[in-house]
Amino acid sequence: MTALARTPSLILRPFTDADFEAAAAMMGDPALTRFLHWGPRTPEQSREAFAKRRAGGAAVPGADYLALALVDKASGALAGEVSLMQMANADGNGEIGYILAAGFHGRGLGTEAARAMMALGFEAFGLRRITATCDARNAASARIMEKLGMRREAHFVKNAWVKGEWTSALVYAVLAEEWRASID
Ligand SMILES: CC(C)(COP(=O)(O)OP(=O)(O)OC[C@H]1O[C@@H](n2cnc3c(N)ncnc32)[C@H](O)[C@@H]1OP(=O)(O)O)[C@@H](O)C(=O)NCCC(=O)NCCS
Repeated sequence: MTALARTPSLILRPFTDADFEAAAAMMGDPALTRFLHWGPRTPEQSREAFAKRRAGGAAVPGADYLALALVDKASGALAGEVSLMQMANADGNGEIGYILAAGFHGRGLGTEAARAMMALGFEAFGLRRITATCDARNAASARIMEKLGMRREAHFVKNAWVKGEWTSALVYAVLAEEWRASID
């Protein structure tokens, strides 16, 4: 399967059927999905969500969704996933999301994956602006956005009812020209 991007530790490539078991383990993990609006998913729900990921692996202009598997170069294991969403709009906006599998946290891999996907978003898709949203308690995710040079544009307080409680959200964004200036 062709890599769409490489980082020092990861290969970003489309999902294959062989990734299903490891992907379902991530989607069904209550700790990993704690701050997400979905999950933990049942095996049946994971099958459906995985099919969407399998279909969303093409970096073609005009696509609205790109989901990529993160493969750990050292072991060949599925280390997580990174996605770009809602890119097919006239304003050139897109949203980035990422999940690192249990056992792959705290090694900078989330930052590497998000940085590589951001480059694809601006270069391959020609996006004007990329946003990211996380639960306000998700300090690691917010830190990744800050490390990528994204600006905190909103802190919505208790705006969403998620998993039995009101949750707050942080919204970050970066413009293409800001991103280009940051990598020069
Ligand atoms: C959020 C997530 C992707 C982070 O991945 P990761 O590979 O562990 O992140 P990194 O190693 O690149 O670390 C990112 C930064 O966050 C910091 N960080 C990590 N865990 C943290 C925590 N619990 N509290 C505060 N900061 C934390 C790291 O120290 C690092 O900052 P630094 O370089 O300044 O030290 C991972 O925890 C995850 O997959 N969580 C579950 C899914 C999820 O919440 N996805 C995001 C949805 S918005």
